[in-house]
Amino acid sequence: MAKVAVLGYGTVGSGVVEVLEKNRGLIEKRAGECLEVKYILDLREFPGDPYEDKVIHDVNVILEDPEVQIVCETMGGNEPAFTFSKKALEAGKSVCTSNKELVANHGAELIALAKAHRCNYLFEASVGGGIPIIRPLNNALTAERVEEISGILNGTTNYILTKMEKEGTDFSEALKKAQELGYAERNPEADVEGYDACRKIAILSCLMTGKTVDFKEVYTEGITKITPADFSYAAKMNRTIKLLAMSALDGADGGGEPGCLAAVAPYLVSKDNPLAGVNDVFNAVFVQSNMLGESMYYGKGAGKLPTASAVVADVVDCAKHAGRHIVCLWDEEKLHLEDFGRAKSRFFVRAEAAKEEEITAVFGAVEKISLNELPAEFGFVTEVMSEAEFAQKHEAVSGIITRIRVKD
Ligand code: HSE
Repeated sequence: MAKVAVLGYGTVGSGVVEVLEKNRGLIEKRAGECLEVKYILDLREFPGDPYEDKVIHDVNVILEDPEVQIVCETMGGNEPAFTFSKKALEAGKSVCTSNKELVANHGAELIALAKAHRCNYLFEASVGGGIPIIRPLNNALTAERVEEISGILNGTTNYILTKMEKEGTDFSEALKKAQELGYAERNPEADVEGYDACRKIAILSCLMTGKTVDFKEVYTEGITKITPADFSYAAKMNRTIKLLAMSALDGADGGGEPGCLAAVAPYLVSKDNPLAGVNDVFNAVFVQSNMLGESMYYGKGAGKLPTASAVVADVVDCAKHAGRHIVCLWDEEKLHLEDFGRAKSRFFVRAEAAKEEEITAVFGAVEKISLNELPAEFGFVTEVMSEAEFAQKHEAVSGIITRIRVKD
């Protein structure tokens, strides 16, 4: 029997306990042994909870108990999660986590520590909630050179954008609902400003390249400026708006230092694109690799049980590999990130009707998109150009209300 400790009895932590209990029989068969929660670490008491007697407040009880082989870190945030994870790994206990902040900040270091102590640091739940994406990248696609990863990596913002599109819901009302459903981060800024998706695409970029991508260098734009009017224009163009995260190998063949071009931003997506059909809390990840071509991973990207299920899958993997390290290529060496100014796309622009002449002088003869309800403005889509080129043109004119990139 393998004893498990859960650090943090919040949404995901309590989900881990629930999944281990509900699927106990089949998990035992698949792990080859019974997995039992011995401790739950939390600052709070949980009177009346069926696991109340397992709740403790001192992490050292777990660290010093040789019976505990696997630790689920579902606390979130950097500290004390980082210190607790390090100490657990140093004690030879495998750690399974849903904590993308910690993985994005210290993934390589924690994997190296796990290797040195013949245990594992697994983080399937840190990207895409319940969707298997880390394990496919490390196992199923291990014979592939992965060249590009893109998709919808944040359930909260996808839920909000879906509500705004389908029900005309106001941004803050949709956010409140997402929080009630347990999708959002403690600080919703991480979701709506794109920081959460940014950490996730950084983690995937690390697995794609085997090096460390500093997520703070990834160009990141959230959804807080998206309005119902933007959705009206999108509908007129047979498009919708999605927060996309993207990362592609870049510069490898150009003689320069091989690097990666990564970004998170809202995009106008054609209704014909499969990503347009990814709604609510669902996430979808496209992987482009050199032998298989394109593959897609789809499912619930947030929420208690989907996320907990991914943590428990890692727990089972740890039980099956007791005393053995599962190879995960992710070194501490820093990966060169290309300047986002080089990234190319078309741009949808909303501009004041009174400035049409000025706009045309800079952007050329544009095809106007007009909405009856907004007579004082018009929209248009530019030709493909780099971010830097667009920024120059934007500077050169007045009257631009907003712009959203177009996904071709
Ligand atoms: N807040 C995150 C999201 C939770 O909405 O995707 C899952 O990582």
